[in-house]
Amino acid sequence: MAKKTVSKQTRSKEIRAKAKKAAPPPAPKAAKIVRPARGELLTLLDFVRYAVSRFIEAELAFAHGTTDPVADAAFLICEALHLHPDQFEMFATARVTTTESARLLDLIERRVQSREPTAYLVNKVYMRGLPFYVDKRVIVPRSFIGELLESHFTGAEEADGAGLIADPGAVDSVLDLCTGSGCLAILASRYFPNARIDAVDLSKDALAVAKRNVADYGLEDRVTLHNGDLFAPLGDARYDLIISNPPYVDAQGMADLPRECRHEPKMAFDGGNDGLDIVHRILRESAWHLTPEGGLLCEIGRGRDVLEAAYPDLPLLWLDTEESEGEVFWTDAATLARFS
Ligand SMILES: C[S@@+](CC[C@H](N)C(=O)[O-])C[C@H]1O[C@@H](n2cnc3c(N)ncnc32)[C@H](O)[C@@H]1O
Repeated sequence: MAKKTVSKQTRSKEIRAKAKKAAPPPAPKAAKIVRPARGELLTLLDFVRYAVSRFIEAELAFAHGTTDPVADAAFLICEALHLHPDQFEMFATARVTTTESARLLDLIERRVQSREPTAYLVNKVYMRGLPFYVDKRVIVPRSFIGELLESHFTGAEEADGAGLIADPGAVDSVLDLCTGSGCLAILASRYFPNARIDAVDLSKDALAVAKRNVADYGLEDRVTLHNGDLFAPLGDARYDLIISNPPYVDAQGMADLPRECRHEPKMAFDGGNDGLDIVHRILRESAWHLTPEGGLLCEIGRGRDVLEAAYPDLPLLWLDTEESEGEVFWTDAATLARFS
């Protein structure tokens, strides 16, 4: 009996030793976070400073409506206190209450630990100064097309390649392909005041968010949401303008997505091997859905070289924004018709 026990113990010792050898090294213990004591942080500015230090220390990524830790922290603090970001300066030295302080510390902690984009934590993002509701059902909007609608499509442009549409008031119809939260469709309704707007997405979840945003802006009569694969739900409808910010991340980019982006729907990023699966389809099919004077404005991220190599004879006008170079192209219906 004793012999049996010893051999059993020896075996389990051996097993434990083997397991120890095979097991990966234990994960480093996360540094214990000591929350600031009551009264250590008093003002909005104190909380922003604390958040910025935590964000930098944790090496967070900033690409969801804010591009640096200070802007991200200020946005988080303001939204949590129901203040517009523009009101930060006015209240920077104002104190927060004990209840508010607890909520702010919780949110800062969540941002650091879970790496959810701030826009998801506060269910809001601003684009061209307009607020949009967002949650995890939809990518956090950050398209360059919003800026380009303002710089190249209002009829009073000064930039190079200005005036891509001579009279915005004469635009009757706009299509927003891959609409996500509906942000570009809603922005387009402002720049093209007489247009009816169709907006398509393959994700029913995204469309639920878009529906909420369209209702928030009272645009149910002008913006129609369609569920389906690119042009499929539209029949043979034609548009004066097609705008699209489709998924365009290539396989390597998908593998390297920062943790923040992994909270967003994969379908919003995944553009196949070279990132341009959907862009190829949009280029091939747009001619059938544009009016003779119409045009296509499409964002493709960093895929310009790949796209130009694939279509060496297709003239594309590349439009830059404050924060992008050669990531959005414009082409007109006549060019696309020759090429299709
Ligand atoms: C990069 S997100 C852009 C969303 C929004 N336009 C914006 O700028 O925030 C791309 C969107 O395309 C949608 N999508 C992906 N494949 C699609 C397809 N085949 N047809 C229609 N929509 C698609 C995704 O669900 C996602 O909402």
